[in-house]
Amino acid sequence: MKRLVCMLLCLAAFGMAEAQRLTSPDGGLSLDFHLSPDGVPVYSLRYKGKTVIGESRMGFRIAPDYEFDRGFEQTDVRFSETDSVWQPVWGQYRDIRDRHKEMCVALCQPSTGWLLNIRFRLFDDGLGFRYEFPVQKDLRNFTLKEEMTEFRLTGDHKAFWLPGDYDTNEYPTTTSRLSEVASLIDSVRTEPLAVRSFTPNLAVQTPLMLKSSDGLYINVHEAALVDYPAMQLNLDDKAFCLSAHLTPDKNGAKGFMQTGSVTPWRTVIVSDDARDILASNVILNLNEPCKLEDTSWIHPVKYVGVWWEYFTGQGSTWAYTANQDIKIGETDYSKEIPNGTHGANTAHVKEYIDFAAKHGFDAVLVEGWNEGWEANFAYVKERIYSFTKPYPDFDVEELHRYAAERGVKIIMHHETTSSVSDYERQMEDAFRFMADHGYDAVKTGYVGPIIPRSEHHDGQWMVNHYLRVVKTAARYKVMVNSHEAVRPTGLCRTYPNWIAQESARGTEFESFKGNRPDHTTILPFTRLMGGPMDYTPGIFEGDLSVYGSNKARLSTTLAKQLALYVTMHSPLQMAADLYTNYEKYPDAFQFIKDVATDWDDTYILEAEPGDYVTIARKAKGKNEWYVGGITDENAREAEIDLSFLPEGKRFQATIYADGKKADWRTAPKDYVISSRKVDGKTVLKQRLAPGGGVAVSIKEL
Ligand code: NOJ
Ligand code: CA
Repeated sequence: MKRLVCMLLCLAAFGMAEAQRLTSPDGGLSLDFHLSPDGVPVYSLRYKGKTVIGESRMGFRIAPDYEFDRGFEQTDVRFSETDSVWQPVWGQYRDIRDRHKEMCVALCQPSTGWLLNIRFRLFDDGLGFRYEFPVQKDLRNFTLKEEMTEFRLTGDHKAFWLPGDYDTNEYPTTTSRLSEVASLIDSVRTEPLAVRSFTPNLAVQTPLMLKSSDGLYINVHEAALVDYPAMQLNLDDKAFCLSAHLTPDKNGAKGFMQTGSVTPWRTVIVSDDARDILASNVILNLNEPCKLEDTSWIHPVKYVGVWWEYFTGQGSTWAYTANQDIKIGETDYSKEIPNGTHGANTAHVKEYIDFAAKHGFDAVLVEGWNEGWEANFAYVKERIYSFTKPYPDFDVEELHRYAAERGVKIIMHHETTSSVSDYERQMEDAFRFMADHGYDAVKTGYVGPIIPRSEHHDGQWMVNHYLRVVKTAARYKVMVNSHEAVRPTGLCRTYPNWIAQESARGTEFESFKGNRPDHTTILPFTRLMGGPMDYTPGIFEGDLSVYGSNKARLSTTLAKQLALYVTMHSPLQMAADLYTNYEKYPDAFQFIKDVATDWDDTYILEAEPGDYVTIARKAKGKNEWYVGGITDENAREAEIDLSFLPEGKRFQATIYADGKKADWRTAPKDYVISSRKVDGKTVLKQRLAPGGGVAVSIKEL
């Protein structure tokens, strides 16, 4: 019967199996699809006549041993197009245009009777495609062995890559040719990290940024990762072919599926101008519209926190006591616990609240407020956290009252050290506790390997977990900032209370010499393609040796730290340094106080991955503009063309620039602030120091 239905479908479609072509609305991109003589689905992508993705196969292997990637016949193809505008709750643009052409190909595999649809969407700046498993008679539940999608590149492109890993994306980015990845990957893997699970074969992570020798910028990632494992990319460095490598569960299963579901979108964003990559909204456009009915409680947050003092090694600790009896196997961890001062004590938190109130910050993050931190540093699960029991010196009621009186919120912290089942058990109580005590934002944390289920951070089970947290939080009107979670894929459109994520090497790595000056010139092209990052900029004291034995040196100048508030988009921004350092440099601190976190418009002025980024943005609902320009280890002159300013008006620009001697290695704190009148005809030429930057605020006169 099943074969008959399928054959009838195929017959009905007789004559339809010829190659299909879809072009982008402006005609610049074209997508070709056909079935090979073996019935393998094959696509390719061209941009302005140049091949971006050569003929690449599609489909799946299904457990235990089904080849769902060949023997297909085409039963239908439908074309449609969309041109609409939508407004995000927060973001880089007030209005986002979704203009694309769509092609949906229906396939059936006569040998099994199984059906598969492939939906392509072509925008002017990129391609998205996904697989859809229609509800059907002969296939219901199935387990993926692998997704077979390929991205066949045309040559040995320059790549900005992280090694394939199922558990972490906190690697430094390596820039090399694809052919060099194999020889470099081992040294990258020795980077100090809390947890790692390398892919068994040569693979890299997404978002992957590529540049071809004929000047094409290509970004490969995914959109709307829901109920599916995150995609790594196998690298065949002879054929320059990338292929999907789904993150497995601990038994090697790649995904538990049911018909009636869809995969995430595979995305290829492309241009011959690097700026277009940063300006692209393809990934957001491929996500579902907002699913929260009421979003009035979601708002941008600028915050300070009891945080950097833990990293600068001044004796401030997350844990309340130095617990004396932690022995695991032969190792006695108790000796390693610093005998410091508990950071999250009521009096100290009040100092932060006072500082936040005085300088107009929305919130104070408090880490180390709750029971369970004694063994955190060793990532052991003998002690679990409580998300409702504060340490005795953290007075929740009093701090809530004190903060509320001053118009400041406290940001909750849920570090799980990946005891995720335990977190799920406590989750409802934890969010109720927050609602009862006036919290409207939480920073979650997943340091360490996943125990007890041995699920990977990027596997399907954890992908579902992160979203479960976000949805639970929404019921309690709480915004979520997840650290060490799977990298984002634009789901903040659908769940705008997922206000930021870390999911890459943040500023914390500066405290252990872990970031390079080019790091933040790459992140906008990689990690930030999927959504905002809680990068925690704003470190003014760049010489970390002032804190004692730690000789680390920040990889940027002070002016570049300011510029990051503009170049690293996030509606959640921290002023991460010790507040005593801000009190030393009140003039530079003014930029952090002023800078907006939500925008009407964004102008990508200059960009080259790994080298420099200059971005201007208009503050939401205000006639104020902010510009950030950053460079890597090389000095350069940024050209800031202000033609985005409205015509016929004059403005006051305040320029926070690197000083004459500024250099991230020798003089990070050398900065100069100047003021001048500007208008839409002004082009500012600003010298950026090695590892330097420039920040500009522009207000109407
Ligand atoms: C890692 C997070 O990225 C960092 O921000 C946090 O302070 C520590 N985990 C402890 O939870
Ligand atoms: Ca982290």
